[in-house]
Amino acid sequence: MSSTITQQPESTTQIVRPARSFQGSVTVPGDKSISHRYAMLAGFAEGTSRLANFSTGADPHSTLACMEALGAKVVKGPGTSVEVTGVAGAFQQPKAELDCGNSGSTMRMLAGLIAPHPHTFTMIGDHSLTMRPMERIRKPLAAMGARIDLVDGHAPMTIHGGPLKAIDFETPIPSAQVKTAVLFAGLQAEGTTSLSEAVRTRDHSEHALKAFGATLTRANETLSIAGGQRLKAIDATVPGDISSAAFFLCAALLFPDSNLVLDSVGMNPTRASLLDVITTLGGKIKVLTVEERHGEMIGTIQVNRDEAGLKGAEISGALSAQIIDELPVIAAIAPYTRDGVTIRDAKELRVKESDRIALVAKNLKVMGAEFTEYEDGLAIPGNQQLHGAEIDSGSDHRIAMAFAVAALRASSENIIHGAEAAAISFPEFFPFLNELSKR
Ligand code: S3P
Repeated sequence: MSSTITQQPESTTQIVRPARSFQGSVTVPGDKSISHRYAMLAGFAEGTSRLANFSTGADPHSTLACMEALGAKVVKGPGTSVEVTGVAGAFQQPKAELDCGNSGSTMRMLAGLIAPHPHTFTMIGDHSLTMRPMERIRKPLAAMGARIDLVDGHAPMTIHGGPLKAIDFETPIPSAQVKTAVLFAGLQAEGTTSLSEAVRTRDHSEHALKAFGATLTRANETLSIAGGQRLKAIDATVPGDISSAAFFLCAALLFPDSNLVLDSVGMNPTRASLLDVITTLGGKIKVLTVEERHGEMIGTIQVNRDEAGLKGAEISGALSAQIIDELPVIAAIAPYTRDGVTIRDAKELRVKESDRIALVAKNLKVMGAEFTEYEDGLAIPGNQQLHGAEIDSGSDHRIAMAFAVAALRASSENIIHGAEAAAISFPEFFPFLNELSKR
């Protein structure tokens, strides 16, 4: 065991010039959330899973590295495909810490999957991940009988694994990561675990568990999973990441003659409320094709801007939880709308890879925008012209990309510091943005 924190990558800068239109066709890389789940369950299952269009983001590759350390065999390529040979239900004692890098999903969801195994696991992350709340995972897993040590509620997290028993759990915060940790532990516990959520969060884990052969039932809002289940390898294709596509959807809203086609993008209903918000803001969305694979909807969509222009939106309640990852980019384009954008009930944004409310506010301010900051959101009036500025990504991928989009309609060029963070979920972002932006 060597260290308790991951090394940060070197900071790089990107210059983004204003554009006059946004046009073209693009296939965004595989979904980050689904790639994590397929990698984890493939690593746990018996047999070799072939995962096509696996995310190119650094986060799901942190998960793959952890699965290798736990005894799974991972072969990358050709292209973005990955082959994972699982441990048939028995993880091995890792020789070193499990390095989760910047990935909250890896640390939280994997904790549930490994806690029932009779080993000691230490999970570490980078500076950002070490600041993020982990008590939300420790609590339900401890109720199942797991012994987990944290440092003031944070990583490094040490799990003293062993047999778990089922619980009935009501998620106190809307979090798919917490739900997943409990389902992954419940899969291996003694008895039947039941779980209910006040706000329905993304259901990729439910679809993935079923795809790998688990039985999982839903009665009204309660999910049940029996313990002692074995999983079998699958061949699967990961849908394109709608949260990556969100940057281009918002960019397309900025110009009257935009025309964007997104190929093979994930349209799971628990993620797709983003498309309703894009429509409310003034996007015209045409679904060109749609199909289902392993319970996940995948579609090709075309987006233009409504003749009426960019309107405004009020985002609160369950909707804020459902589009939590897309809120930074929606906030970044808000000044260019006619009626402005209000975001409330989004306090969780403060404990993401950065305090995203504070960083959105900081960067809107340097670009010259007026707004009101709340503990749980922002109110950003419309009809504002922003100017170029020096943007601070705060090493947060979604902040770097959100303000690269805002830069397309600014009066002068923006300098994005910490642009390398985009690689956490979308390494191809800047070249794709450049190709689609017409100047
Ligand atoms: C994720 C769930 C969300 C989201 C994160 C990915 C997932 O987090 O913000 O980027 O894959 O389950 P929470 O579940 O903690 O809200």
